[in-house]
Amino acid sequence: MILKTKRLILRPWKKTDLDLFFKLNSDPKVMEFFPSILSKDESDKLAEKIQEEFTSKSYGLWAVQIPSIAEFIGFIGLNHPDFKASFTPCVEIGWRLAYPFWNKGYATEGAIAALKFGFEKLNLSEIVAFTYEKNMRSRHVMEKLKMTHDPKEDFNHPKLPSDHPLRLHVLYRLKQETFFKNFS
Ligand SMILES: CC(C)(COP(=O)(O)OP(=O)(O)OC[C@H]1O[C@@H](n2cnc3c(N)ncnc32)[C@H](O)[C@@H]1OP(=O)(O)O)[C@@H](O)C(=O)NCCC(=O)NCCS
Repeated sequence: MILKTKRLILRPWKKTDLDLFFKLNSDPKVMEFFPSILSKDESDKLAEKIQEEFTSKSYGLWAVQIPSIAEFIGFIGLNHPDFKASFTPCVEIGWRLAYPFWNKGYATEGAIAALKFGFEKLNLSEIVAFTYEKNMRSRHVMEKLKMTHDPKEDFNHPKLPSDHPLRLHVLYRLKQETFFKNFS
């Protein structure tokens, strides 16, 4: 399944993406709000997990390409979180892009296509997003997508140790009807 937007192609992953994926996963600016940068092995394992999801569902965290400009700039897409929380099971939208491509509206543009796929093709009633509370760039994208945050739903990420400084996360929700009202 390939999604196209004005400037982007969201496509399945290729072997040639792996080195560029490692490059962004080993960039401290990109990984500022994650527990650590990733080694090549960790980066490849993550890509493998993402590809497996794609094979089983035919959607997931799409590889993002900018035709004639960049073969691979990161991922944007839909994911099923594999931990237990008050809001799971659910479908989340996520994004991670290489630093040279930030602040050009790419995350928002790709996310709109992924959300449209989730609401139209999968007929999901709601899609969520979450991030470390101080990740204002990611929160800003959520807000541009008209996702809403209720502080009562802030949560400690269950995959991080209880004393971890990045543990407190904010949850944003987006209903199908809100998306269609704003983006169709
Ligand atoms: C989060 C991320 C995907 C955003 O990608 P992007 O393509 O730059 O996003 P967009 O350009 O669509 O939108 C970014 C918005 O954040 C704003 N922004 C940038 N820095 C900001 C900051 N420090 N605080 C608040 N807003 C900020 C931009 O101005 C822009 O808003 P605008 O269009 O109203 O001007 C990218 O920064 C990234 O990959 N970060 C590292 C990985 C990550 O944190 N992923 C999310 C984990 S949940």
